[in-house]
Amino acid sequence: MRRGLAFLLLLGGCAGQQTPLAPGGEQAASLFTLFGLMMAVTSVFYVLVLGFLGWAAWRARGHWSRGAAPVVEPDDVGLSRSLVVWAALIIAGLFLLVGGSFVAERALASARAREALQVSVTGHQWWWRIQYRDPATGAVVETANELHLPVGRTARIELGAADVIHSFWVPNLSGKLDMIPGRANSVDITPRQLGWFRGQCAEFCGAQHAHMAFSVKVDTPAEFAAWLAAQARPAATPADAAAARGQRVVVGGQCAMCHVIRGTAAGGRAGPDLTHIGSRRTLAAGTLVNTRGGMQGWIAHPQAIKPGTMMPPVALDPADADAVSRYLESLK
Ligand code: CUA
Repeated sequence: MRRGLAFLLLLGGCAGQQTPLAPGGEQAASLFTLFGLMMAVTSVFYVLVLGFLGWAAWRARGHWSRGAAPVVEPDDVGLSRSLVVWAALIIAGLFLLVGGSFVAERALASARAREALQVSVTGHQWWWRIQYRDPATGAVVETANELHLPVGRTARIELGAADVIHSFWVPNLSGKLDMIPGRANSVDITPRQLGWFRGQCAEFCGAQHAHMAFSVKVDTPAEFAAWLAAQARPAATPADAAAARGQRVVVGGQCAMCHVIRGTAAGGRAGPDLTHIGSRRTLAAGTLVNTRGGMQGWIAHPQAIKPGTMMPPVALDPADADAVSRYLESLK
C-alpha cells in the first residue's frame, strides 16, 4: 500500500507545466518516445548485468570459502556459446538505439521542412525579448517573457542572445537549444495541446539564471490571431485620473529610459517592452505574479527580489507608486 502510494507520488512529479515527461507538442513527443526506448533498452541491460553478477557471485561462494579462486576451463563450450549470445544482445540493443535515434531525427527534420510561423526570441540577463511579425502590416510586434503559439502550426523560434549564452527550453513542447551571442540558432515547436506551459533558461548565465523563466500559452488559431492583433496595437490611453497620473510618472521619469510603451514618448530599448504589460501573467521573467502589489514591490525593491538585475530601484511616493501600478495594470 505504502509502496503504491510512493509510486503514485513519483508519477505525480511527471505531470505539469514544465516536464519532458508530459509532451504537449510534436517535437517533445518524438523526444519522449526516444527517451522511453532508451530507458527500456538500458533497463534490460542493467537488470541482465546485475542478475549475472549476482548469479556468478552466488555460484562462486564455495570457492571463496575454500580460499581458492574459481577456475574457468579454456575449452568451456557453454561459456563461448553464452558469450556469442551476449554479443548478439549488445548488437541488437545498439541497433534499437540507433534506429530509435534515426526515427526521432527524421521526425524533427520533417517539421523543419514546413512553412512556419516566425518568432524571434532573444535572451537577456535575465529576461526574454520576443518578437513577431504582424501579418497585417509586416511590422515587428514585441513583447517579453510570454510566448503565445497557435496550436497545430509549426513555429520556428529564432534564438539569439544579447549578452551571454542562455538556453531556450520548454520541455513540454520541444528540445532545448543554446542561445549564443553572434550566432543564429532556431528550434521548431508544433504544439498539440492547448494551455499554459513553462519555459526556463537551461544554461547558467549569471546570478539570476534561476529567475529566467517564461510562460508559454498555446492558443487556438483564432485566439492567437486576436492576441497578436492586440499586441500590435499601441498602448491604451489612460482611462481615469489615477492612470493618467501613472502615465505621466512612467513616461516623464526614469522608467522611459529603458522601457518602450508604444504610443507614448517612452522609447527605451534596454528592458522589456511594456506596451501590454497588463496582459502578461508574470513580472521579472516568471519571478512574480503580475498583480498591482507585485508591480509596486518590483519597482521599489528589484534588487531585493532579484539581486543583480539590471532594473534599478525607483523611489516613488505612495500616491505615485499606486498610480504607476494602476497605469501599468491597465495596459492590457
Ligand atoms: Cu539565461 Cu540562464
